[in-house]
Amino acid sequence: MTSHGGANPSANESVPAKQANVLVDPYRDWSEGEGIPIHLDFGHNLLELETGPWDRYEARGCFAHTHGAGDFMANYVLEVAPSAKTRPVRHLYEVFCFVLAGHGSTKVWLPNGEVRVFEWGPKAMFAIPLNCQYQIFNGTGARPLRISCTNNAPITINLYHNLDFVFDNSFAFPERAGQSKHFDGEGDHSTWIAANTIKRNLWETNFVHDLSSFKLYEFEERGKGSTNVSFILADGTMHAHVSQIPKGRYKKAHRHAAGTHVHAVDGVGYSLLWHEGDSEFKEFPWQHGFMYTPPFWMFHQHFNTGPSPARYLACSLGSRRYPFISLRRKSSEGAGSISISQGGRQIEYEDQDPRIHRKWLEALGTSGVASEMGEIFDEPAILKLPPEALSGVISTPRSIGPAV
Ligand SMILES: [Fe+2]
Repeated sequence: MTSHGGANPSANESVPAKQANVLVDPYRDWSEGEGIPIHLDFGHNLLELETGPWDRYEARGCFAHTHGAGDFMANYVLEVAPSAKTRPVRHLYEVFCFVLAGHGSTKVWLPNGEVRVFEWGPKAMFAIPLNCQYQIFNGTGARPLRISCTNNAPITINLYHNLDFVFDNSFAFPERAGQSKHFDGEGDHSTWIAANTIKRNLWETNFVHDLSSFKLYEFEERGKGSTNVSFILADGTMHAHVSQIPKGRYKKAHRHAAGTHVHAVDGVGYSLLWHEGDSEFKEFPWQHGFMYTPPFWMFHQHFNTGPSPARYLACSLGSRRYPFISLRRKSSEGAGSISISQGGRQIEYEDQDPRIHRKWLEALGTSGVASEMGEIFDEPAILKLPPEALSGVISTPRSIGPAV
């Protein structure tokens, strides 16, 4: 007979409570368990980060984590000694490899039993088709090679939280393998029209020989002379694009979702970042080897200060084909290059805070490069602005609402 008397403790009152198993972060646990250095900063010089022995690859590596990486994406650096090779590995997360330094080759075992081998040098980029086994070789005996590996391991490991499933899974994805030519540096060019007017260009492949010489296409909506191409790599869910800023110019500011790993490829310059309401800019100088991730919804703007065009590679979650998240879908629909006063995410030149152009002119004064933007800005007037016009909350145009 069940007692309902107030004097008898119920079962859950009589058993001491255990420590609750909550707030688990399987990706963090995995990365801490790999035994290699974990670097966490706003951005990194990937060429100089300290690495350590990494048994998973039988090579060296480190995690290059960033404050703005968000919940889905991360980065690690793989270093392979002269004449050495990695252990063959496979995993259920996607990875884009950007060659920072060195010459080598990649061997990929495809689901149909075929094996592809392709050779590369500095500034090449390749993607490993999902869950294919792969191995990386250093092709020289002279120096180590370094590769930046941008990946979606956080979402994959946190979703399944079973490392055997992620790293020891024989399931094959033949639809991700791509055509034979996609491992030779060939590809397929296609276009689409965003926001009814903005022509965008797409290149589908698995491998690009050299991002610094790859053909780009006009993308004036992000600033005069801007050029760009988006990639579909290994039919993946991760996105990559390369953009170029002409000499003597800079891009327009914009903001978007977290996790875009921006790698400088060519040229020199800096990026400014600020949240709406900030009074100070955060500045990140860059050249090849530098990578950073603009945090969620933080305005950011890229400035070329050098004597040649500046290129960068951006890798993020949500490809043009598979946007995955609504914010990325909006980007592909054109919101990233439409004024926030029109419901987009961009700050037009005429709406930007005067400190932005002033600071850039001062930087050009140091580098000796001439501004090519005199037709847009009254530069003599900007250089004469008094200090009181160059302080306080950074001005941004009024947004008509969240672009989500
Ligand atoms: Fe951006």
